[in-house]
Amino acid sequence: SDQSFAGRVPIAPQQVDAPLTRSAIFLVVGVVDRPGAMDTVRDVVAGLEGLVKTIGFRDLPAQLSCTVGIGARVWPELTGLSTPAELHPFKEVRGAAHTAVSTPGDLLFHIRSNRQDMCFELERLLLEGLGDAVTTIDETSGFRYFDARDLLGFVDGTANPVGPNLPASTLVGDEDPQFVGGSYVLVQKYLHQMSSWAKLSTEQQESIIGRRKADDLELDDAVEGQKSHKTLNTITDDAGEHDILRDNMPFGSPGQGEFGTYFIGYARHLWVTEKMLERMFIGDPPGLHDRILDFSEAKTGCVFFAPSASLLAGLAG
Ligand code: HEM
Repeated sequence: SDQSFAGRVPIAPQQVDAPLTRSAIFLVVGVVDRPGAMDTVRDVVAGLEGLVKTIGFRDLPAQLSCTVGIGARVWPELTGLSTPAELHPFKEVRGAAHTAVSTPGDLLFHIRSNRQDMCFELERLLLEGLGDAVTTIDETSGFRYFDARDLLGFVDGTANPVGPNLPASTLVGDEDPQFVGGSYVLVQKYLHQMSSWAKLSTEQQESIIGRRKADDLELDDAVEGQKSHKTLNTITDDAGEHDILRDNMPFGSPGQGEFGTYFIGYARHLWVTEKMLERMFIGDPPGLHDRILDFSEAKTGCVFFAPSASLLAGLAG
Protein backbone atom coordinates (compact mmCIF):
# COMPACT_ATOMS: atom_id res chain seq x y z
CA SER A 1 0.00 0.00 0.00
CA ASP A 2 2.74 2.47 -0.91
CA GLN A 3 1.72 6.01 -1.63
CA SER A 4 3.76 8.41 -3.66
CA PHE A 5 4.90 11.76 -2.39
CA ALA A 6 4.94 14.55 -4.95
CA GLY A 7 4.58 11.77 -7.52
CA ARG A 8 8.25 10.84 -7.28
CA VAL A 9 9.60 9.46 -4.01
CA PRO A 10 7.82 6.29 -2.84
CA ILE A 11 6.74 6.49 0.77
CA ALA A 12 6.42 3.17 2.60
CA PRO A 13 3.95 3.28 5.52
CA GLN A 14 4.58 1.22 8.63
CA GLN A 15 2.64 -2.04 8.72
CA VAL A 16 -0.45 -0.41 10.16
CA ASP A 17 -2.55 -2.91 8.22
CA ALA A 18 -0.68 -5.98 9.52
CA PRO A 19 -3.00 -8.99 9.63
CA LEU A 20 -4.96 -9.86 12.76
CA THR A 21 -2.70 -12.15 14.75
CA ARG A 22 -3.11 -14.57 17.61
CA SER A 23 -0.97 -12.46 19.98
CA ALA A 24 -0.03 -8.85 20.52
CA ILE A 25 1.88 -6.74 23.03
CA PHE A 26 1.04 -3.09 23.63
CA LEU A 27 4.04 -1.36 25.18
CA VAL A 28 3.78 2.28 26.27
CA VAL A 29 6.95 3.95 27.54
CA GLY A 30 8.06 7.39 28.67
CA VAL A 31 11.36 8.93 27.60
CA VAL A 32 13.44 9.96 30.63
CA ASP A 33 14.74 13.48 31.00
CA ARG A 34 18.45 12.78 30.72
CA PRO A 35 21.10 13.90 28.20
CA GLY A 36 21.46 11.35 25.44
CA ALA A 37 18.14 9.62 26.12
CA MET A 38 16.49 11.09 23.03
CA ASP A 39 19.47 10.01 20.87
CA THR A 40 19.14 6.44 22.09
CA VAL A 41 15.41 6.41 21.36
CA ARG A 42 15.99 7.90 17.90
CA ASP A 43 18.52 5.17 17.05
CA VAL A 44 16.19 2.42 18.23
CA VAL A 45 13.11 3.61 16.33
CA ALA A 46 15.16 4.27 13.20
CA GLY A 47 16.45 0.69 13.41
CA LEU A 48 13.11 -0.88 14.27
CA GLU A 49 12.41 -2.24 10.82
CA GLY A 50 15.75 -4.07 10.85
CA LEU A 51 15.08 -5.56 14.27
CA VAL A 52 11.62 -6.80 13.24
CA LYS A 53 13.17 -8.35 10.14
CA THR A 54 15.88 -10.10 12.13
CA ILE A 55 13.46 -11.72 14.57
CA GLY A 56 10.62 -12.17 12.08
CA PHE A 57 12.76 -14.03 9.57
CA ARG A 58 13.19 -16.89 12.04
CA ASP A 59 9.55 -17.83 11.37
CA LEU A 60 7.98 -15.84 8.53
CA PRO A 61 4.51 -17.45 8.76
CA ALA A 62 4.27 -16.12 12.33
CA GLN A 63 3.87 -12.65 10.75
CA LEU A 64 5.78 -10.57 13.27
CA SER A 65 5.23 -6.84 12.92
CA CYS A 66 5.76 -3.80 15.09
CA THR A 67 4.45 -0.30 14.57
CA VAL A 68 5.80 2.56 16.65
CA GLY A 69 3.77 5.62 17.54
CA ILE A 70 5.34 8.82 18.84
CA GLY A 71 3.54 11.13 21.28
CA ALA A 72 3.20 14.92 21.03
CA ARG A 73 5.50 15.67 23.99
CA VAL A 74 8.59 14.09 22.46
CA TRP A 75 7.79 14.47 18.75
CA PRO A 76 9.68 17.78 18.11
CA GLU A 77 12.92 16.79 19.84
CA LEU A 78 12.87 13.18 18.68
CA THR A 79 12.26 13.91 15.01
CA GLY A 80 13.50 17.48 14.56
CA LEU A 81 10.41 18.02 12.41
CA SER A 82 7.31 20.12 12.76
CA THR A 83 4.37 18.39 14.48
CA PRO A 84 1.85 16.51 12.30
CA ALA A 85 -1.32 18.56 11.82
CA GLU A 86 -3.56 16.72 14.31
CA LEU A 87 -1.01 15.39 16.82
CA HIS A 88 -1.71 16.47 20.40
CA PRO A 89 -1.97 14.72 23.77
CA PHE A 90 -5.13 12.68 24.41
CA LYS A 91 -7.97 15.06 25.23
CA GLU A 92 -9.98 13.84 28.19
CA VAL A 93 -13.65 13.31 27.35
CA ARG A 94 -15.88 13.84 30.35
CA GLY A 95 -19.44 12.64 30.05
CA ALA A 96 -22.13 12.88 32.71
CA ALA A 97 -21.53 9.28 33.81
CA HIS A 98 -18.14 8.17 32.39
CA THR A 99 -14.79 9.77 31.58
CA ALA A 100 -12.23 8.88 28.94
CA VAL A 101 -9.10 9.62 30.94
CA SER A 102 -5.87 10.98 29.50
CA THR A 103 -2.70 9.28 30.78
CA PRO A 104 1.04 9.73 30.05
CA GLY A 105 2.92 7.93 27.27
CA ASP A 106 5.64 9.07 24.86
CA LEU A 107 6.00 6.00 22.64
CA LEU A 108 3.75 3.10 21.76
CA PHE A 109 5.08 -0.16 20.38
CA HIS A 110 2.29 -2.28 18.91
CA ILE A 111 3.82 -5.72 18.48
CA ARG A 112 1.83 -8.38 16.63
CA SER A 113 2.54 -12.02 15.77
CA ASN A 114 0.84 -15.38 15.70
CA ARG A 115 3.45 -16.49 18.22
CA GLN A 116 3.56 -15.00 21.68
CA ASP A 117 7.23 -15.89 22.01
CA MET A 118 8.08 -13.75 18.99
CA CYS A 119 6.19 -10.79 20.48
CA PHE A 120 8.09 -11.38 23.70
CA GLU A 121 11.45 -11.61 21.94
CA LEU A 122 10.90 -8.37 20.07
CA GLU A 123 9.83 -6.57 23.23
CA ARG A 124 12.84 -7.95 25.09
CA LEU A 125 15.33 -6.77 22.47
CA LEU A 126 13.57 -3.43 22.03
CA LEU A 127 13.80 -2.68 25.74
CA GLU A 128 17.41 -3.87 25.79
CA GLY A 129 18.17 -1.33 23.07
CA LEU A 130 16.24 1.45 24.78
CA GLY A 131 17.95 0.70 28.11
CA ASP A 132 17.54 3.41 30.73
CA ALA A 133 16.46 5.98 28.14
CA VAL A 134 12.84 4.99 28.85
CA THR A 135 10.61 3.82 31.66
CA THR A 136 7.79 1.38 31.04
CA ILE A 137 4.40 2.93 31.70
CA ASP A 138 2.20 0.04 30.62
CA GLU A 139 2.77 -3.36 29.10
CA THR A 140 -0.25 -5.43 28.06
CA SER A 141 -0.15 -8.87 26.45
CA GLY A 142 -3.26 -9.58 24.42
CA PHE A 143 -4.51 -12.81 22.94
CA ARG A 144 -6.98 -13.71 20.22
CA TYR A 145 -10.06 -15.21 21.91
CA PHE A 146 -11.81 -17.86 19.78
CA ASP A 147 -13.33 -16.30 16.63
CA ALA A 148 -11.92 -12.85 17.38
CA ARG A 149 -14.28 -12.24 20.30
CA ASP A 150 -13.79 -9.70 23.07
CA LEU A 151 -14.25 -10.83 26.66
CA LEU A 152 -17.84 -9.54 26.57
CA GLY A 153 -18.38 -12.42 24.15
CA PHE A 154 -18.88 -10.50 20.88
CA VAL A 155 -16.92 -10.78 17.64
CA ASP A 156 -14.80 -7.63 17.54
CA GLY A 157 -13.31 -6.11 14.39
CA THR A 158 -15.94 -7.07 11.81
CA ALA A 159 -16.65 -3.61 10.40
CA ASN A 160 -12.98 -2.77 9.81
CA PRO A 161 -12.24 -1.20 6.42
CA VAL A 162 -10.88 -3.49 3.70
CA GLY A 163 -9.48 -3.09 0.18
CA PRO A 164 -8.81 0.43 -1.08
CA ASN A 165 -10.82 1.83 1.84
CA LEU A 166 -8.14 0.56 4.25
CA PRO A 167 -5.25 2.88 3.27
CA ALA A 168 -7.76 5.64 2.53
CA SER A 169 -9.07 5.56 6.12
CA THR A 170 -5.81 4.90 7.94
CA LEU A 171 -3.00 6.76 6.14
CA VAL A 172 -2.41 10.50 5.96
CA GLY A 173 -2.56 11.76 2.38
CA ASP A 174 -1.83 15.01 0.63
CA GLU A 175 -3.66 17.02 3.31
CA ASP A 176 -0.38 16.96 5.29
CA PRO A 177 2.33 16.41 2.64
CA GLN A 178 5.27 16.12 5.02
CA PHE A 179 3.59 13.23 6.83
CA VAL A 180 2.07 11.22 4.00
CA GLY A 181 1.79 7.55 4.89
CA GLY A 182 1.60 8.20 8.64
CA SER A 183 -1.31 7.25 10.88
CA TYR A 184 -2.84 8.60 14.10
CA VAL A 185 -3.05 5.94 16.81
CA LEU A 186 -5.33 6.16 19.82
CA VAL A 187 -5.20 3.56 22.59
CA GLN A 188 -7.29 2.93 25.69
CA LYS A 189 -7.04 0.10 28.15
CA TYR A 190 -10.47 -0.98 29.36
CA LEU A 191 -11.39 -3.20 32.30
CA HIS A 192 -14.75 -4.96 32.26
CA GLN A 193 -17.17 -5.61 35.11
CA MET A 194 -17.89 -9.15 34.03
CA SER A 195 -20.37 -10.14 36.73
CA SER A 196 -22.77 -7.27 36.00
CA TRP A 197 -22.43 -7.83 32.22
CA ALA A 198 -23.28 -11.50 32.75
CA LYS A 199 -26.51 -10.53 34.52
CA LEU A 200 -27.87 -9.04 31.27
CA SER A 201 -29.82 -11.21 28.89
CA THR A 202 -28.25 -11.97 25.52
CA GLU A 203 -30.87 -9.69 23.90
CA GLN A 204 -29.90 -6.79 26.17
CA GLN A 205 -26.23 -7.32 25.38
CA GLU A 206 -26.95 -7.48 21.67
CA SER A 207 -28.84 -4.19 21.71
CA ILE A 208 -25.92 -2.51 23.50
CA ILE A 209 -23.42 -3.72 20.89
CA GLY A 210 -25.67 -3.55 17.81
CA ARG A 211 -24.87 -7.06 16.57
CA ARG A 212 -26.09 -10.56 17.32
CA LYS A 213 -23.86 -12.44 19.74
CA ALA A 214 -23.76 -15.90 18.17
CA ASP A 215 -23.55 -15.15 14.46
CA ASP A 216 -22.40 -11.49 14.53
CA LEU A 217 -25.17 -10.25 12.19
CA GLU A 218 -25.86 -6.52 12.34
CA LEU A 219 -29.05 -5.31 14.05
CA ASP A 220 -30.96 -2.39 12.59
CA ASP A 221 -29.92 1.06 13.83
CA ALA A 222 -32.18 2.58 16.44
CA VAL A 223 -33.99 5.50 14.84
CA GLU A 224 -34.27 7.44 18.08
CA GLY A 225 -33.34 7.14 21.75
CA GLN A 226 -30.54 4.88 22.98
CA LYS A 227 -28.10 4.05 20.19
CA SER A 228 -25.95 0.92 20.07
CA HIS A 229 -22.14 0.92 20.20
CA LYS A 230 -22.09 0.19 16.49
CA THR A 231 -24.34 3.13 15.64
CA LEU A 232 -22.55 5.61 17.92
CA ASN A 233 -19.29 4.69 16.19
CA THR A 234 -20.59 5.21 12.68
CA ILE A 235 -19.32 8.65 11.68
CA THR A 236 -20.79 10.19 8.55
CA ASP A 237 -20.73 13.63 7.01
CA ASP A 238 -21.03 15.11 3.51
CA ALA A 239 -17.90 13.18 2.50
CA GLY A 240 -19.59 9.87 3.42
CA GLU A 241 -18.62 7.41 6.18
CA HIS A 242 -15.30 7.84 8.00
CA ASP A 243 -13.72 4.58 9.16
CA ILE A 244 -10.85 3.71 11.43
CA LEU A 245 -8.88 0.46 11.71
CA ARG A 246 -9.19 -1.34 15.04
CA ASP A 247 -7.08 -4.24 16.28
CA ASN A 248 -8.48 -4.64 19.80
CA MET A 249 -7.15 -7.47 21.91
CA PRO A 250 -8.56 -9.19 24.99
CA PHE A 251 -6.20 -9.43 27.95
CA GLY A 252 -6.57 -10.45 31.55
CA SER A 253 -5.83 -12.67 34.46
CA PRO A 254 -8.87 -14.43 35.88
CA GLY A 255 -6.99 -15.14 39.11
CA GLN A 256 -6.75 -11.39 39.72
CA GLY A 257 -10.31 -10.77 38.56
CA GLU A 258 -8.92 -8.80 35.61
CA PHE A 259 -10.80 -8.94 32.29
CA GLY A 260 -10.02 -6.33 29.67
CA THR A 261 -10.07 -5.04 26.14
CA TYR A 262 -7.09 -3.12 24.82
CA PHE A 263 -8.58 -0.72 22.29
CA ILE A 264 -6.35 0.48 19.46
CA GLY A 265 -7.55 2.59 16.56
CA TYR A 266 -5.50 3.73 13.56
CA ALA A 267 -6.88 6.69 11.61
CA ARG A 268 -5.99 9.02 8.81
CA HIS A 269 -7.82 11.79 10.67
CA LEU A 270 -7.56 11.85 14.47
CA TRP A 271 -10.80 13.82 14.67
CA VAL A 272 -12.71 10.76 13.48
CA THR A 273 -11.57 8.64 16.46
CA GLU A 274 -12.12 11.60 18.79
CA LYS A 275 -15.63 12.04 17.45
CA MET A 276 -16.31 8.37 18.25
CA LEU A 277 -15.15 8.91 21.83
CA GLU A 278 -17.33 11.97 22.15
CA ARG A 279 -20.37 10.05 20.95
CA MET A 280 -19.58 7.12 23.28
CA PHE A 281 -18.81 9.11 26.46
CA ILE A 282 -21.01 12.18 26.13
CA GLY A 283 -23.68 10.41 24.11
CA ASP A 284 -25.79 11.16 21.07
CA PRO A 285 -27.96 12.90 22.07
CA PRO A 286 -25.85 14.01 25.09
CA GLY A 287 -26.78 11.94 28.12
CA LEU A 288 -27.43 8.77 26.16
CA HIS A 289 -23.88 7.44 26.41
CA ASP A 290 -22.66 4.10 25.05
CA ARG A 291 -24.01 1.45 27.44
CA ILE A 292 -20.80 -0.58 26.90
CA LEU A 293 -19.25 1.97 29.29
CA ASP A 294 -21.54 0.91 32.14
CA PHE A 295 -19.58 -2.36 32.07
CA SER A 296 -16.16 -1.14 30.91
CA GLU A 297 -13.87 1.44 32.49
CA ALA A 298 -11.17 3.23 30.52
CA LYS A 299 -7.99 3.11 32.63
CA THR A 300 -5.66 4.76 30.13
CA GLY A 301 -5.87 7.05 27.09
CA CYS A 302 -2.99 8.06 24.82
CA VAL A 303 -2.54 9.46 21.32
CA PHE A 304 0.46 8.85 19.04
CA PHE A 305 1.48 9.42 15.46
CA ALA A 306 2.94 6.44 13.60
CA PRO A 307 5.02 8.10 10.89
CA SER A 308 5.80 6.29 7.66
CA ALA A 309 8.57 3.69 7.75
CA SER A 310 10.46 5.92 5.32
CA LEU A 311 10.36 8.84 7.74
CA LEU A 312 11.46 6.60 10.63
CA ALA A 313 14.40 5.18 8.73
CA GLY A 314 15.45 8.72 7.80
CA LEU A 315 15.87 9.61 11.49
CA ALA A 316 19.05 7.51 11.71
CA GLY A 317 21.96 9.70 12.82
C1 HEM B 1 -17.60 -2.00 16.65
C2 HEM B 1 -16.33 -3.87 20.94
C3 HEM B 1 -14.35 0.38 22.22
C4 HEM B 1 -15.04 1.96 17.70
C5 HEM B 1 -17.48 -2.85 17.72
C6 HEM B 1 -18.06 -4.18 17.80
C7 HEM B 1 -17.68 -4.70 18.99
C8 HEM B 1 -16.89 -3.71 19.68
C9 HEM B 1 -18.02 -6.09 19.52
C10 HEM B 1 -18.95 -4.84 16.71
C11 HEM B 1 -18.16 -5.63 15.72
C12 HEM B 1 -17.22 -4.81 14.88
O1 HEM B 1 -17.62 -4.17 13.90
O2 HEM B 1 -16.04 -4.79 15.21
C13 HEM B 1 -15.68 -2.88 21.65
C14 HEM B 1 -15.21 -3.03 23.02
C15 HEM B 1 -14.66 -1.82 23.37
C16 HEM B 1 -14.78 -0.93 22.23
C17 HEM B 1 -15.33 -4.29 23.86
C18 HEM B 1 -14.04 -1.40 24.67
C19 HEM B 1 -14.60 -1.62 25.82
C20 HEM B 1 -14.37 1.19 21.11
C21 HEM B 1 -13.84 2.52 21.05
C22 HEM B 1 -14.03 2.97 19.77
C23 HEM B 1 -14.70 1.91 19.03
C24 HEM B 1 -13.17 3.26 22.22
C25 HEM B 1 -13.65 4.29 19.12
C26 HEM B 1 -12.99 5.27 19.71
C27 HEM B 1 -15.77 1.01 17.02
C28 HEM B 1 -16.15 1.13 15.62
C29 HEM B 1 -16.92 0.00 15.32
C30 HEM B 1 -16.98 -0.79 16.55
C31 HEM B 1 -15.76 2.24 14.65
C32 HEM B 1 -17.57 -0.34 13.97
C33 HEM B 1 -18.86 0.42 13.79
C34 HEM B 1 -19.51 0.08 12.45
O3 HEM B 1 -20.24 -0.92 12.37
O4 HEM B 1 -19.26 0.81 11.49
N1 HEM B 1 -16.79 -2.59 18.89
N2 HEM B 1 -15.40 -1.61 21.22
N3 HEM B 1 -14.89 0.85 19.88
N4 HEM B 1 -16.27 -0.15 17.55
FE1 HEM B 1 -15.90 -0.85 19.39
